[in-house]
Formats: sequence, structure tokens, C-alpha cells
Amino acid sequence: MSLEIVILAAGQGTRMRSSLPKVLHPVAGNSMLGHVIHSARQLDPQRIHVVIGHGADLVRERLAADDLNFVLQDQQLGTGHAVAQAVPFISADTVLILYGDVPLIEVETLRRLLEQAGPEQLGLLTVELDNPTGYGRIVRDAAGKVAAIVEQKDASAAELTITEGNTGILAVPAKRLGEWMSRLSNNNAQGEYYLTDVIAMAVGDGLAVATEQPQDAMEVQGANDRQQLAELERNYQLRAGRRLMAQGVTLRDPARFDVRGEVTVGRDVLIDINVILEGRVVIEDDVVIGPNCVIRNSTLRKGVTIKANSHIDGAIMGEGSDAGPFARLRPGSVLDARAHVGNFVELKNAHLGEDAKCGHLTYLGDAEVGARTNIGAGTITCNYDGVNKHKTVLGEDVFIGSNNSLVAPVDISSGASTAAGSTINQNVGEGQLGVARARQRNIDGWKRPVKINKP
Ligand code: UD1
Ligand code: CA
Repeated sequence: MSLEIVILAAGQGTRMRSSLPKVLHPVAGNSMLGHVIHSARQLDPQRIHVVIGHGADLVRERLAADDLNFVLQDQQLGTGHAVAQAVPFISADTVLILYGDVPLIEVETLRRLLEQAGPEQLGLLTVELDNPTGYGRIVRDAAGKVAAIVEQKDASAAELTITEGNTGILAVPAKRLGEWMSRLSNNNAQGEYYLTDVIAMAVGDGLAVATEQPQDAMEVQGANDRQQLAELERNYQLRAGRRLMAQGVTLRDPARFDVRGEVTVGRDVLIDINVILEGRVVIEDDVVIGPNCVIRNSTLRKGVTIKANSHIDGAIMGEGSDAGPFARLRPGSVLDARAHVGNFVELKNAHLGEDAKCGHLTYLGDAEVGARTNIGAGTITCNYDGVNKHKTVLGEDVFIGSNNSLVAPVDISSGASTAAGSTINQNVGEGQLGVARARQRNIDGWKRPVKINKP
């Protein structure tokens, strides 16, 4: 059974009070429409049609991809009118209709819906609601079969008491869709072409309507304002947290944890409060992440420890290495096994060999540091001459004294040392001590200044 998907994303979203089109508002670091497209792709459709209108250029620009066909709906005349714009492009057997502002829909739910519907029936996703206000109501006949959907504004008092609501998500046999769309009228309370009218048409044509429900009502929740957007965000995060916990992660507080990307985790990982994981993050077994850390596009190998308030971006941390508190690893930071980065240390494009240490107040940029090398507190690489970047290379077992300025390009060989307070701008050879500071002299009988009494 071949499948195509139509995503409705033309609406304005006035209640967002925003210059950004509604479907581009983010949930978990990706636009709402981006989430829907991501889920749609997992169903392997022949093609995905995205109906756009408000902010069409920006939506197209942000989300352009080979498997997406953007269809312009110039005027928003209703959900039926929106689907009708995509009909000429459809050739598959089944069409699934999704919504750009309903981002939490689960792929499993959609699979169940498509399975229920099969090739010849309609498949309608409905939801049982405590308060169905605003939703189209599912009208069933005496035998319990779906007969029609009635919109809130067109419903009779009796119909308004129905608590089974229309989610809008619908699977339709494609060969009938064009004809049904051409029969839609806007003779209703809102003067719109309702997609929901196809239900009664299909029933009239003798088709059955299969229904399916989401596991969780949040899946079909849309966002019309920023309050609802925040609810979707927290629900997404709680779901992401539950998934990680099921895989062996301890979250100190799932309500204070955020994922904005794709995370893979090992077992016995411990994540303290207020941690944000962004982009692609790989976390192996026994990793411990302290509170208030942001970790983006990084790999944390087995047994890594990250202490509080650290920012780890584009880094690879080797087995048993550690960083923080208050560490900043910028893109290109690579720590080999058991390397140690302490507090107020910034690394950028820097490689620390096994068991290398930089414990305090250090900046290493464009640096290669050999195994077991120790870098004293307050040391910086002067890697930028105002025009070009240069490299600092430290061999193995090097000892860099405190408060050094390493003026790149510079090369300090294995086993070499430098004296505290040195500005090192010449290479230091194997086993040598580099000293580059003024010699100390002590002045005898030094008289301290005396306070002058003002008249
Ligand atoms: C729709 C359903 C209703 C259902 C509810 C669930 C219809 C007629 N009604 O009502 O039964 O309970 O969703 O939330 O379908 N859109 C376009 N172009 C248009 C009109 C809408 O792209 O011309 C998009 C909107 O951007 C939005 C979605 O379709 O994402 C739903 O439209 P909306 O007007 O919000 O429908 P509802 O009145 O909520
Ligand atoms: Ca709506």
C-alpha cells in the first residue's frame, strides 16, 4: 500500500502574537513543523506535501528538502480547501493528513491508524476529552459506527455533549479524495470548506470509517498560543526523560531536564538537575553529569564526569576523563582517557593526551598536549596574533609552571619544564627548563610610604 502525506501548515496563528509563522515556533529546539516532518518520514511515504500560506517563503526556506513538496494555499479557506490544493500532486493509494502545529504525534499511533484503515476505508484518529470545547464531535449511529463529524459551531445541543473529539488526523483512500474535495461546500457556520465533511460523504458512498486513539491525549494537542507551546515543550521533555530512564539513566528531576536533539545513552548514567542536551549527544555507560550543564554535539565515553556549570560543545571526552566545575570545552576539544580539565578552563581545538591535566584558570586554543603533561594554573596559549592562528605543541610528561603565556607557534618537547610566570616564545628542548621572566631582586631596608596629614 503506497502512502503520501499531506501536512497542513498554512494557518497564521494570530494568538502567538509573533512575526514568525506559527509552525516555525520551536519545541525542543526544532520547529513544530520540523517535528511533524520527522515523524512523517519514519512512515516511509512516497512523498510529503506541505500546504503553506502565512509566512510561506520563510517556511519553505527553513525546511526545504528533496522529499518535500511545498504547495501554496494563497487564502486560508478551510482545512478541506487546504487539502484540495495538494490533491493534484497525489498518486499513492493512501493519503495521511497531519498538522504542522501538532508536533507530538507518535509514529506508532499513525502506524496503528493506517493499519486499522487499510486501503479501502477511512481511518480517523479520535480522542476522548474531558472538555471537548472547540473540537469537531464524532457522531456515531445506533450501531456505534461513525456517521459524520460536526464542528463545534455547527453542532446541536445534543451533539455538543459528545466527548469523542476529532483530532483532525485522517487516513483516506486517495482515489476518492479528489471527488470528495470537489463536492465540499462552505455553507456552514464558519463559511469554510471543512475537511471533516468527507466523513459523511464517505459514509454516504458506502465506505466504513475505522477509528483509532492516541496513547496519550498530548500527542494530538496543537499549539495556538505560547502557553500551549510551553505545555507541548514540557510534555515533549517528560517523554524524552521517560525514554532515557527506561534505558538506564537516572534523572535527578525529569521536570528539570531538556533534550533538544538526538541523544544516545548507555547504562547507569547519572544526570543532575538543569542539564540541557543539544544536537547529537552520545553518552556511554557510567557517565555522571552535574547540575546546570549544557552539552552540545559531543561524545562522552565510559565513566566521564562533568561537574556543575560546565559547557561542553563539539567535544570528545575519552574514557574516565573529567571536566569542571565551570569548564568550557569548545568545538574541537578532545580529551583522551583520564585527562582532567578543572575549573575555569577553556579549551578550543585542543587535544589533551592520556592523563594530561589542566586544573585551573587556563585557556588552551589550537594546542596539542601529550600524555601525562601537567599545565599549571593561569596558563594561556597566545594562539592568535591578530591575523592568524598558530599551534602550541607540548610533548609527553611536560611540566608547565603556573601563569605561563605560551606564544604560538611554539613547541615544548617531552620531559621539558617551564618556570612559573614565564612568557614562552621559543621552543624548549627535551629535558630542558625554560625560564622567561625577570630575575627577582630584594631591596634592603625598604621604607614604606608614610601617610601625609592634610592640614
Ligand atoms: C479542526 C477540525 C476539527 C478538529 C480540530 C482539532 C476541521 C473543519 N475541523 O478544527 O474537527 O477537532 O481541527 O484541532 O477540519 N489550515 C490550513 N489552511 C486552512 C485552514 C486550516 O492550513 O485554510 C491548518 C491550520 O494552520 C491548522 C489546521 O489546518 O494547523 C487546523 O485548522 P484550524 O482552523 O485550527 O481548525 P479547527 O477549527 O481547530
Ligand atoms: Ca485548531
